[in-house]
Amino acid sequence: MAAGAASLDALREAMGAYEHCELKRGARNLVFCDGNPKARVMIIGEAPGADEDRLGRPFVGRAGQLLDRMLAAIGLSRSSPDAERAVYITNVMVWRPPGNRDPSAEEISMMLPFLRRHIELVDPEVLVLMGNTPCLALLERRGILKLRGHWTQTQNRPVMPMTHPAYLLRNPIAKREAWADLLEIQAKLRGK
Ligand code: URA
Repeated sequence: MAAGAASLDALREAMGAYEHCELKRGARNLVFCDGNPKARVMIIGEAPGADEDRLGRPFVGRAGQLLDRMLAAIGLSRSSPDAERAVYITNVMVWRPPGNRDPSAEEISMMLPFLRRHIELVDPEVLVLMGNTPCLALLERRGILKLRGHWTQTQNRPVMPMTHPAYLLRNPIAKREAWADLLEIQAKLRGK
């Protein structure tokens, strides 16, 4: 189903028709994306929370507001029509896990072909992975506190793992490192 999707609209439709992930039954909305599909930067989070499930958009709660401020600090915005300044945002899981539990390894691998196809279709220059879940999905590695700040690769493009903004809300001291990671991303986009 994922491989057969020739556009983002077709991918969204294919995911909406996919009945094998139990999380779908408990979710109000499929949370597919936000931002500009022409963006140079694609951000991948974990899974929708309550606010995202209600509104059908990723990163709209408190963590999302912090994410927007972090992006603004390096001149990026999900609402920019200009590809140079825009970001595109999605999550590993499109449905909210009950009680905001972490998605299981089975749920992640079930949805991975859709995520990989999503990356292919958007074709960003740089991927930013927020937290452990997208690192587990795309890099098969966990331990975000070690992974963050180091460029790696997936699907032939540079990947920057970062601590999740929800973690930064709980651990404001870690914002200093997140700022360093944002500057790395900015330098990469400037061609350093
Ligand atoms: N956390 C995520 O990882 N994604 C969201 O969309 C919201 C919170």
